[in-house]
Amino acid sequence: MQAKFAGNSQDAIPIDFIKADGLDTWLSDKSGQINAWVKSNGFTAALGQVLTLPDTGGNITRVLAGWGQASDHSKGRYWAASIAAKLPEAVYEFGSGLEQSELHEASLSWLLAQYAFDRYKTKSGSLARLKPDTSINAERVEALATAEFLTRDLINTPASDMGPDALEAAFRKLGGEHDAKVSVIKGDALLENNFPMIHAVGRASDQQPRLLDMTWGNDTDPKVTLVGKGVCFDTGGLNIKPGSSMGLMKKDMGGSANAMGLAHLIMALKLKVRLRLLVPAVENSISAGAFRPQDVLTSRKGLTVEINNTDAEGRLVLADALTLADEESPDFIVCMATLTGAARVALGPDVPPFFTDSDSLANAISNASVSETDPVWRLPFWDPYEPIIEPDVADLDNAPKGGFGGAITAALFLRRFVEHADEFVHLDLYGWTPVAKPGRTHGGACQSIRAILRVIEERHCHD
Ligand code: BES
Ligand code: MN
Ligand code: ZN
Repeated sequence: MQAKFAGNSQDAIPIDFIKADGLDTWLSDKSGQINAWVKSNGFTAALGQVLTLPDTGGNITRVLAGWGQASDHSKGRYWAASIAAKLPEAVYEFGSGLEQSELHEASLSWLLAQYAFDRYKTKSGSLARLKPDTSINAERVEALATAEFLTRDLINTPASDMGPDALEAAFRKLGGEHDAKVSVIKGDALLENNFPMIHAVGRASDQQPRLLDMTWGNDTDPKVTLVGKGVCFDTGGLNIKPGSSMGLMKKDMGGSANAMGLAHLIMALKLKVRLRLLVPAVENSISAGAFRPQDVLTSRKGLTVEINNTDAEGRLVLADALTLADEESPDFIVCMATLTGAARVALGPDVPPFFTDSDSLANAISNASVSETDPVWRLPFWDPYEPIIEPDVADLDNAPKGGFGGAITAALFLRRFVEHADEFVHLDLYGWTPVAKPGRTHGGACQSIRAILRVIEERHCHD
């Protein structure tokens, strides 16, 4: 689904955004009829409230949009989306009441409100479209929304239609749209090319495990490599998940979906970087050939891993992909994964934790998280916990007993596979919006990619 504004030449109905304490002033120079209409409809300019103003023929001439108190906005942003969602099908434009600095976010909110996962619906809904204000960068906002739609669609599509085969097809399509180079290593070729852990995790599925690899841009530009967890369904493997925990596991490719959304942005906005996108795409399934608890795997890097829970599969496939990413010593590696339940327990579904050893990168991410309305929060790579991930029989333990600091120990595990990159950040995403909010539909969620995009622009794109 493409996110699009209405064309510039179209007639549009203006929307006046009115703060609750500014309603009386706004009404003071309006006709008695408008005053009566506003009163009789109970319009108080509460945040998200909408009132259409008809002419004598019954056509909508203006829209009043409640913008509430300034303090309301701190409860979460993207409120313009709740206004878009309440309007009938037509073309609108922003009239009065928004600050210049609010236009970008309000416009993005509007586009985000237009998302619907309608692949399995035989009827589709109506759209209130926005003619963008001439002062905003409409192409950038469209790219941001299109990336988010791509991510949501990929996550929302059930594993029956988004297994490793379909994820590969979507990956190739994305590469094709931007003239990127795509290569795929699949099935036994993973063993021949030394990706043993991607193979081990995915080999029990009917759809072969694979590593998807995309490169784009100029080799002499800064190298930015994105690695996304592509577990198309996570049953837990032989350590099978209980039904309640398995229910949402179509979203376990959420890291790859977000990395693909970010890759789309980098390519659509033509950032001056050499992009690489790596996605280990597997299904963590159960069959006679499944990997088992207490198996010892030898990773691409040579580190051995004792499997103590086949449900800690994400770190295994990511380890081999991160090893490959690290081999060319890129400037920046970004890892995105629905890696641990512990991350969700620590920070809830809306604030993904991120891990990096670079304080300056961490500060840049935190700042971008605020300016882009893309919440993330730093957790530590806590060195003293390193012994927790070292078992008796191998170099590493994929699922340490006790479960202490589960998001941290998973992150420490990944860090063992990154040595040469200048900077490394790992984001443990939830990838799902459990309760719809303005601009965020229930279901697959785009998280952290606007913040990371901003950071890449600031730190790696210098002409
Ligand atoms: N995909 C899950 C993590 C997950 C679960 C993310 C629920 C978001 C919501 C991952 O593969 C997993 O099962 N992790 C285990 C690891 C444990 C066995 C060490 C977990 O977090 O319980
Ligand atoms: Mn798992
Ligand atoms: Zn998983």
